[in-house]
Amino acid sequence: MPRKIAAGNWKMHGDGAALAEIDALMAANPAPSVDVVICPPATLIHRMVSHIGSHPIAVGGQSCHAAIKGAHTGDIAAGMLVDAGATHVILGHSERRADHGETDAMIQAQLETALSAGLQIILCVGETETQYKAGTTQDIVTAQLRHALPQSDAAARIIIAYEPVWAIGTGLVPQDDEIAAVHAAIRALLCDHFGAAGAEMAILYGGSVKAENAAAIFAIANVDGALVGGASLNAAAFSPIIAALARA
Ligand code: 13P
Repeated sequence: MPRKIAAGNWKMHGDGAALAEIDALMAANPAPSVDVVICPPATLIHRMVSHIGSHPIAVGGQSCHAAIKGAHTGDIAAGMLVDAGATHVILGHSERRADHGETDAMIQAQLETALSAGLQIILCVGETETQYKAGTTQDIVTAQLRHALPQSDAAARIIIAYEPVWAIGTGLVPQDDEIAAVHAAIRALLCDHFGAAGAEMAILYGGSVKAENAAAIFAIANVDGALVGGASLNAAAFSPIIAALARA
Protein backbone atom coordinates (compact mmCIF):
# COMPACT_ATOMS: atom_id res chain seq x y z
CA MET A 1 0.00 0.00 0.00
CA PRO A 2 1.28 3.52 -0.76
CA ARG A 3 1.92 5.81 2.21
CA LYS A 4 -0.87 8.25 3.03
CA ILE A 5 0.27 11.80 2.42
CA ALA A 6 -1.33 15.13 3.36
CA ALA A 7 0.63 17.91 1.69
CA GLY A 8 -0.03 21.61 2.16
CA ASN A 9 0.92 24.06 -0.57
CA TRP A 10 1.01 27.51 1.00
CA LYS A 11 1.68 29.16 -2.39
CA MET A 12 2.53 32.88 -1.89
CA HIS A 13 1.02 33.05 1.59
CA GLY A 14 2.62 33.19 4.99
CA ASP A 15 5.27 35.04 6.95
CA GLY A 16 6.92 34.46 10.31
CA ALA A 17 3.63 34.89 12.14
CA ALA A 18 2.24 31.91 10.24
CA LEU A 19 4.60 29.61 12.13
CA ALA A 20 1.94 29.70 14.86
CA GLU A 21 -0.14 27.48 12.56
CA ILE A 22 2.66 24.93 12.59
CA ASP A 23 2.61 25.00 16.41
CA ALA A 24 -1.12 24.35 16.31
CA LEU A 25 -0.69 21.56 13.76
CA MET A 26 1.95 19.87 15.91
CA ALA A 27 -0.24 20.29 18.99
CA ALA A 28 -3.13 18.67 17.11
CA ASN A 29 -0.84 15.66 16.95
CA PRO A 30 -1.37 14.59 13.34
CA ALA A 31 -1.90 10.88 12.89
CA PRO A 32 1.34 8.87 12.67
CA SER A 33 -0.14 6.87 9.79
CA VAL A 34 -0.17 10.02 7.63
CA ASP A 35 2.93 11.76 6.26
CA VAL A 36 2.41 15.52 6.55
CA VAL A 37 4.39 17.85 4.30
CA ILE A 38 4.11 21.65 4.34
CA CYS A 39 5.45 23.61 1.36
CA PRO A 40 5.70 27.24 2.48
CA PRO A 41 7.18 30.14 0.51
CA ALA A 42 10.95 29.77 0.16
CA THR A 43 11.53 32.59 2.64
CA LEU A 44 9.98 30.47 5.39
CA ILE A 45 11.55 27.08 4.71
CA HIS A 46 14.56 27.39 6.99
CA ARG A 47 12.61 28.98 9.83
CA MET A 48 9.86 26.38 9.54
CA VAL A 49 12.35 23.50 9.61
CA SER A 50 13.98 24.95 12.75
CA HIS A 51 10.58 25.51 14.31
CA ILE A 52 9.44 21.95 13.67
CA GLY A 53 12.59 20.46 15.20
CA SER A 54 12.29 16.70 15.62
CA HIS A 55 8.54 16.51 14.90
CA PRO A 56 7.91 14.37 11.79
CA ILE A 57 6.19 17.11 9.75
CA ALA A 58 8.28 17.52 6.59
CA VAL A 59 8.94 20.78 4.74
CA GLY A 60 9.13 21.25 0.99
CA GLY A 61 9.76 23.89 -1.64
CA GLN A 62 7.24 24.90 -4.30
CA SER A 63 9.55 24.76 -7.33
CA CYS A 64 13.20 24.60 -8.29
CA HIS A 65 15.32 25.43 -11.31
CA ALA A 66 16.62 22.75 -13.64
CA ALA A 67 20.19 24.05 -13.33
CA ILE A 68 22.36 23.23 -10.33
CA LYS A 69 23.39 26.90 -10.02
CA GLY A 70 23.92 29.88 -12.26
CA ALA A 71 22.74 33.27 -13.46
CA HIS A 72 19.01 32.79 -12.90
CA THR A 73 17.75 35.79 -10.98
CA GLY A 74 14.91 34.98 -8.62
CA ASP A 75 15.16 31.23 -9.03
CA ILE A 76 16.00 28.59 -6.44
CA ALA A 77 18.27 25.60 -6.95
CA ALA A 78 17.26 22.17 -5.69
CA GLY A 79 20.44 22.03 -3.60
CA MET A 80 19.46 25.30 -1.93
CA LEU A 81 16.14 23.79 -0.86
CA VAL A 82 18.06 20.88 0.66
CA ASP A 83 20.48 23.30 2.32
CA ALA A 84 17.50 25.11 3.87
CA GLY A 85 16.23 21.84 5.29
CA ALA A 86 13.57 20.91 2.75
CA THR A 87 13.03 17.25 1.95
CA HIS A 88 10.37 17.68 -0.76
CA VAL A 89 9.62 19.92 -3.71
CA ILE A 90 6.45 20.50 -5.69
CA LEU A 91 7.11 20.48 -9.43
CA GLY A 92 4.80 21.12 -12.37
CA HIS A 93 2.11 22.98 -10.45
CA SER A 94 -0.39 24.51 -12.86
CA GLU A 95 0.34 27.97 -11.43
CA ARG A 96 4.02 27.54 -12.40
CA ARG A 97 2.97 26.29 -15.83
CA ALA A 98 0.61 29.26 -16.30
CA ASP A 99 2.49 32.09 -14.54
CA HIS A 100 6.02 31.14 -15.58
CA GLY A 101 5.50 29.29 -18.83
CA GLU A 102 6.91 26.06 -17.47
CA THR A 103 6.71 23.32 -20.09
CA ASP A 104 6.72 19.55 -19.72
CA ALA A 105 10.35 19.56 -20.87
CA MET A 106 11.33 22.12 -18.22
CA ILE A 107 9.50 20.16 -15.55
CA GLN A 108 11.24 16.95 -16.61
CA ALA A 109 14.62 18.69 -16.31
CA GLN A 110 13.71 20.14 -12.90
CA LEU A 111 12.67 16.69 -11.74
CA GLU A 112 16.00 15.14 -12.70
CA THR A 113 17.88 17.90 -10.89
CA ALA A 114 15.68 17.63 -7.80
CA LEU A 115 16.19 13.86 -7.69
CA SER A 116 19.96 14.33 -7.95
CA ALA A 117 19.79 16.74 -5.03
CA GLY A 118 18.09 14.08 -2.94
CA LEU A 119 14.61 15.60 -2.80
CA GLN A 120 11.27 13.83 -2.92
CA ILE A 121 9.11 15.20 -5.69
CA ILE A 122 5.43 16.04 -5.65
CA LEU A 123 4.75 16.09 -9.39
CA CYS A 124 1.55 17.91 -10.35
CA VAL A 125 -0.54 17.16 -13.41
CA GLY A 126 -4.03 18.26 -14.39
CA GLU A 127 -6.24 19.50 -17.15
CA THR A 128 -7.65 22.99 -17.72
CA GLU A 129 -11.37 23.66 -17.79
CA THR A 130 -11.33 23.78 -21.59
CA GLN A 131 -9.56 20.43 -21.77
CA TYR A 132 -12.00 18.98 -19.23
CA LYS A 133 -14.99 20.16 -21.24
CA ALA A 134 -13.44 18.73 -24.40
CA GLY A 135 -13.24 15.32 -22.68
CA THR A 136 -9.45 15.14 -22.99
CA THR A 137 -8.59 14.92 -19.30
CA GLN A 138 -6.95 11.51 -19.37
CA ASP A 139 -4.98 12.29 -22.54
CA ILE A 140 -3.64 15.50 -21.01
CA VAL A 141 -2.76 13.97 -17.66
CA THR A 142 -1.04 10.91 -19.08
CA ALA A 143 0.89 13.02 -21.60
CA GLN A 144 2.10 15.33 -18.82
CA LEU A 145 3.22 12.32 -16.81
CA ARG A 146 4.93 10.55 -19.69
CA HIS A 147 6.92 13.71 -20.43
CA ALA A 148 8.00 14.26 -16.85
CA LEU A 149 8.73 10.82 -15.42
CA PRO A 150 12.41 9.86 -15.28
CA GLN A 151 13.76 6.59 -16.62
CA SER A 152 15.74 6.15 -13.44
CA ASP A 153 14.56 3.87 -10.68
CA ALA A 154 13.13 6.74 -8.68
CA ALA A 155 9.58 5.58 -8.02
CA ALA A 156 10.04 5.64 -4.25
CA ARG A 157 10.87 9.35 -4.34
CA ILE A 158 8.06 10.54 -6.59
CA ILE A 159 4.55 11.43 -5.46
CA ILE A 160 1.94 12.31 -8.07
CA ALA A 161 -0.68 15.01 -7.48
CA TYR A 162 -3.67 15.13 -9.81
CA GLU A 163 -4.99 18.68 -9.69
CA PRO A 164 -7.67 19.69 -12.19
CA VAL A 165 -6.85 23.34 -12.87
CA TRP A 166 -10.54 24.29 -12.78
CA ALA A 167 -10.90 22.81 -9.29
CA ILE A 168 -8.07 24.83 -7.73
CA GLY A 169 -9.39 27.51 -5.40
CA THR A 170 -12.85 27.41 -6.96
CA GLY A 171 -14.79 25.16 -4.60
CA LEU A 172 -15.46 22.89 -7.58
CA VAL A 173 -14.47 19.23 -7.36
CA PRO A 174 -14.85 16.52 -10.03
CA GLN A 175 -17.39 13.76 -9.48
CA ASP A 176 -16.07 10.78 -7.51
CA ASP A 177 -16.11 8.56 -10.59
CA GLU A 178 -14.16 11.16 -12.57
CA ILE A 179 -11.44 11.28 -9.90
CA ALA A 180 -11.44 7.47 -9.76
CA ALA A 181 -10.99 7.19 -13.53
CA VAL A 182 -8.06 9.61 -13.65
CA HIS A 183 -6.33 8.07 -10.64
CA ALA A 184 -6.77 4.58 -12.13
CA ALA A 185 -5.22 5.79 -15.38
CA ILE A 186 -2.31 7.32 -13.46
CA ARG A 187 -1.83 4.09 -11.50
CA ALA A 188 -1.78 2.05 -14.71
CA LEU A 189 0.77 4.39 -16.26
CA LEU A 190 2.99 4.28 -13.15
CA CYS A 191 2.93 0.47 -13.10
CA ASP A 192 3.68 0.40 -16.81
CA HIS A 193 6.59 2.81 -16.34
CA PHE A 194 8.08 1.62 -13.04
CA GLY A 195 6.82 -1.96 -12.77
CA ALA A 196 5.73 -3.20 -9.36
CA ALA A 197 7.11 -0.06 -7.69
CA GLY A 198 4.37 1.93 -9.43
CA ALA A 199 1.78 0.26 -7.23
CA GLU A 200 3.48 1.71 -4.14
CA MET A 201 3.57 5.31 -5.32
CA ALA A 202 1.21 7.77 -3.65
CA ILE A 203 -1.27 9.52 -5.94
CA LEU A 204 -2.75 12.64 -4.32
CA TYR A 205 -5.84 14.56 -5.35
CA GLY A 206 -5.69 18.36 -5.21
CA GLY A 207 -8.27 21.06 -5.86
CA SER A 208 -10.69 22.51 -3.26
CA VAL A 209 -10.08 19.77 -0.69
CA LYS A 210 -11.75 20.80 2.57
CA ALA A 211 -12.66 19.12 5.85
CA GLU A 212 -16.20 18.74 4.48
CA ASN A 213 -15.30 16.75 1.35
CA ALA A 214 -12.06 15.06 2.45
CA ALA A 215 -13.53 11.77 3.69
CA ALA A 216 -15.48 11.22 0.46
CA ILE A 217 -12.42 11.98 -1.68
CA PHE A 218 -10.17 9.70 0.39
CA ALA A 219 -12.66 6.84 -0.02
CA ILE A 220 -12.00 6.80 -3.79
CA ALA A 221 -9.74 4.01 -5.05
CA ASN A 222 -6.15 5.06 -5.74
CA VAL A 223 -6.49 8.32 -3.81
CA ASP A 224 -3.63 8.14 -1.31
CA GLY A 225 -3.90 11.63 0.06
CA ALA A 226 -4.28 15.27 -0.90
CA LEU A 227 -2.34 18.31 -2.01
CA VAL A 228 -4.17 21.10 -0.25
CA GLY A 229 -3.92 24.83 -0.93
CA GLY A 230 -6.20 27.21 0.97
CA ALA A 231 -7.26 24.77 3.67
CA SER A 232 -3.63 24.01 4.56
CA LEU A 233 -2.97 27.58 5.66
CA ASN A 234 -4.41 27.12 9.09
CA ALA A 235 -4.26 24.17 11.42
CA ALA A 236 -7.95 24.26 12.25
CA ALA A 237 -8.80 23.61 8.61
CA PHE A 238 -5.93 21.23 7.81
CA SER A 239 -6.05 18.97 10.89
CA PRO A 240 -9.50 17.50 10.09
CA ILE A 241 -8.28 16.68 6.57
CA ILE A 242 -5.30 14.82 8.03
CA ALA A 243 -7.63 13.02 10.44
CA ALA A 244 -9.96 12.03 7.60
CA LEU A 245 -7.01 10.58 5.70
CA ALA A 246 -5.92 8.60 8.76
CA ARG A 247 -9.42 7.10 8.98
CA ALA A 248 -9.62 6.28 5.26
P1 13P B 1 -6.88 24.71 -3.20
O1 13P B 1 -6.88 23.61 -2.15
O2 13P B 1 -6.81 26.08 -2.58
O3 13P B 1 -7.96 24.54 -4.21
O4 13P B 1 -5.48 24.58 -3.99
C1 13P B 1 -5.10 23.37 -4.51
C2 13P B 1 -3.70 23.47 -4.99
O5 13P B 1 -3.42 24.11 -5.98
C3 13P B 1 -2.66 22.79 -4.20
O6 13P B 1 -1.45 22.74 -4.90
